[in-house]
Amino acid sequence: MLMVMTSSGMRSIFIVVSMTLITLKESMACSLPYVGREIWDAKPAKDVQTFPGPIPFVIIHHSYIPAACNTGKECSKAMQVMQEMHQQERGWNDIGYSFAVGGDGRVYEGRGFNVIGAHAPRYNNKSVGICMIGDWRFDLPSEKMIDAVQSLIEYGVRNNIIASNYTLIGHRQTRPTECPGDRLFEEIKTWPHFVDMWDVVDPNTIAT
Ligand SMILES: *[C@@H]1O[C@H](CO)[C@@H](O)[C@H](O)[C@H]1NC(C)=O
Ligand SMILES: *[C@@H]1O[C@H](CO)[C@@H](O)[C@H](O)[C@H]1NC(C)=O
Repeated sequence: MLMVMTSSGMRSIFIVVSMTLITLKESMACSLPYVGREIWDAKPAKDVQTFPGPIPFVIIHHSYIPAACNTGKECSKAMQVMQEMHQQERGWNDIGYSFAVGGDGRVYEGRGFNVIGAHAPRYNNKSVGICMIGDWRFDLPSEKMIDAVQSLIEYGVRNNIIASNYTLIGHRQTRPTECPGDRLFEEIKTWPHFVDMWDVVDPNTIAT
């Protein structure tokens, strides 16, 4: 009797230990190099309006200005500069993008998922707007940045926040703009779920 109890007790311990290891491994594989708003010292949003998911579009942008950043400190500063420009000069509620990716290979939280953005008129309530910080007209973002964008999208799809059949496009496919830069635009054409659709409308010609 004692033997049986001990053995089943040991088995439970074994099971608990292996489950812990599996959980740990999974959470590491799923972990996103992520920088929340409190870390980059965001100002509060003036207003937050949400929309339902799963989100059908992923839209890629470049910042053009600020230039590419390479450290957590530089990228946090770039986030602050963009937020200030969008809130103060443009009078928006918050930084326009849902997320941004820095040259440090990390994902910076903008408005987040399912919050109506200000990055692509007519698409703001059905997309995730991801800004790759830097000017990508002639240069390609690093492998690290590209991987971070893919990890963010995969995270969204895995958690059913982004539709599994999402459509990936560049900002220029929705309005007249050079964004996300010629070089980056050529690159995203090779990414999963890129669709060569063009729905370009000059936002100045439509009521907002
Ligand atoms: C997004 O906004 C447009 C224009 O106001 C509206 O027609 C559409 O139903 C909205 N879509 C979602 C998913 O809320
Ligand atoms: C994605 O799937 C949804 C739900 O099945 C469907 O309504 C939608 O049309 C699909 N979108 C594309 C781009 O295929």
